[in-house]
Amino acid sequence: MSKAKSPVDPFAPIREATLKHRAKHGCGAWPYDNGPLLSALAGAADAKRILELGCALGYTSLSFANGAPKAKIDTIERDPEHIKLARENFAAAGVTKRITVHEGEFAKVVKTLVGPYDVAFFDGGTPVPAVHETLRKLLRPRGLLITANLNHGGSADTVLAALLDAKKWLTAFIDEERETGISIKL
Ligand SMILES: C[S@@+](CC[C@H](N)C(=O)[O-])C[C@H]1O[C@@H](n2cnc3c(N)ncnc32)[C@H](O)[C@@H]1O
Repeated sequence: MSKAKSPVDPFAPIREATLKHRAKHGCGAWPYDNGPLLSALAGAADAKRILELGCALGYTSLSFANGAPKAKIDTIERDPEHIKLARENFAAAGVTKRITVHEGEFAKVVKTLVGPYDVAFFDGGTPVPAVHETLRKLLRPRGLLITANLNHGGSADTVLAALLDAKKWLTAFIDEERETGISIKL
C-alpha cells in the first residue's frame, strides 16, 4: 500500500527529493518531518527575520517562507551539493529574494550575522551549546528558538537545560522524542 501524501504540505515533493538525495548521497540531509508546523510557528510569531541552521535542499526554509510571507530567511549550509540544489528549489519557488543561503560552518557563519531575528531554527546534527549561545544573542528578546535533534546525546542535555530558562527564551521543543515530555511555566 502506498503511503498517503499530506494534503497540506506544498513542499512534500522537496522533502521526498531530500530523502532520495540522502539515500544516494549518504549525507546528513534528513529532512524535518513537519514543514506545516514550522509554517504555522513562523506565522504565529509574525516573523520578519528567520535564521536557520541546516538548509539541506531547502524544505524547511520554504516552509518558513510560506508561513511568514513578510519574512526574510538566512539559512546556513556547508555541503556544496545541498547549496546548489536548495538554490534551484528557491528559484523554482520564486523566493530567491527572500531566502539567502550562507555557505560554511554554523559556528563561523553565525558570528558574521547581525540580529535581531524573530525565529531561529537549529536543524544540524547534535546541538552545540556555544552555537546556541550565539543564537540566543541573535534572537530578539523572547524570540522563538526551534531546535531539533535534542536526542543526539551528551551536549544536547546541556543545551536543553539552558533552553529551559523561560526568562530568556520562548522555546518550542519539536523533537519527535521529547516534544511531549516538557512543559514550561511562563
Ligand atoms: C538535518 S539536515 C537539515 C534538513 C533541512 N532543515 C530539512 O528539513 O530539509 C542538516 C543539514 O545541515 C548541514 N550541516 C550539518 N552540520 C553542519 C555544520 N556544522 N555547518 C554547516 N552545515 C551543517 C548538513 O550538510 C545538512 O544538509
